[in-house]
Amino acid sequence: MNRLKDKVAIVTGGGTGIGEAICKKFAREGAKVIVSGFPEDPVHDVVREIMTEGGDASPFIADISVEDNAMRCVEFAVNTYGKLDILINNAGVFPVMAEIQNYPIDAFEYLIKNNIRSAFLMTRYAIPELKKTKGCIVSAGSESGKLGLGENSVYGGTKGWMHAFTRGVAVEQAKYGIRANCVCPGAIDTAWTHKETGPMKAKHEQMIIAGTPMGRRGTPEEIANAYLFLASDEASYVTGALFSVDGGITISKGPVGKEAESEVTEEPKGELNLHHSMDGATNMLRGVPREVHQP
Ligand SMILES: NC(=O)c1ccc[n+]([C@@H]2O[C@H](COP(=O)([O-])OP(=O)(O)OC[C@H]3O[C@@H](n4cnc5c(N)ncnc54)[C@H](O)[C@@H]3O)[C@@H](O)[C@H]2O)c1
Repeated sequence: MNRLKDKVAIVTGGGTGIGEAICKKFAREGAKVIVSGFPEDPVHDVVREIMTEGGDASPFIADISVEDNAMRCVEFAVNTYGKLDILINNAGVFPVMAEIQNYPIDAFEYLIKNNIRSAFLMTRYAIPELKKTKGCIVSAGSESGKLGLGENSVYGGTKGWMHAFTRGVAVEQAKYGIRANCVCPGAIDTAWTHKETGPMKAKHEQMIIAGTPMGRRGTPEEIANAYLFLASDEASYVTGALFSVDGGITISKGPVGKEAESEVTEEPKGELNLHHSMDGATNMLRGVPREVHQP
């Protein structure tokens, strides 16, 4: 229960989906957590739920792809808890699936802003504080950044950027004692991978499940478990890793998931009380207006 005892962590995009699970997992393991998200995200709910369980968390509500907000987010962590040990670059968006000749230019720009600019700015402003604590960064990669996925090439491209960015940061910052790694999920059971709440159509849903040897999506908690390991001191010799947590989809070919036995295709229940797995951002209306709302 104490793998992150007395650590201070920022989790961007911490109000929903995988981010909610990371925040709750880290809080259970003794971390003080800054839960960051857009004004529309249930950030206050997550903070309240963590406090009710006896954990410690504080909300930071702002669009962290805006430079001033990214800077203030790091300042807020240090002013609130005295230091920063862990930056989790989890915030991201997935607005559209389309072939490139039809891909909306504003969706491209929305992806660059929220998936790339936010991670760059948060990393840039966090590093001086992480140098003081010999801290670490764990960022959201993806199997789509390793493979390149049809109708998803722009999103996959932002994740390929995250992989290379993380490795560059890992190399140059190792001398200061800072580690940087990526968790690379496959299809996870959040708003993004359901046709009712995200950009995937029924055919995409069928493809991701059939293409995963385990024949199912991963749970947000299964992803949070990998973030926990990489953020903890147990990973003291791990840096520059692209850590796949993907039910085997990155190494598989064809509809292998259809062969998975029924016990394998059942999602594990997990231990966390998650309420916002399906509340994530899948459209381009999030983050407006962009002012900072501090508690
Ligand atoms: N769900 C999947 O199948 C999957 C697979 C691979 C990788 N990932 C990665 O995991 C991360 C989380 O995905 P999720 O499925 O939990 O989605 P989600 O929409 O539930 O969570 C992302 C959160 O980030 C927030 N956010 C985005 N841009 C922001 C900004 N500029 N400022 C503040 N908050 C911002 C969103 O509002 C949202 O709450 C993403 O980076 C995604 O690329 C997800």
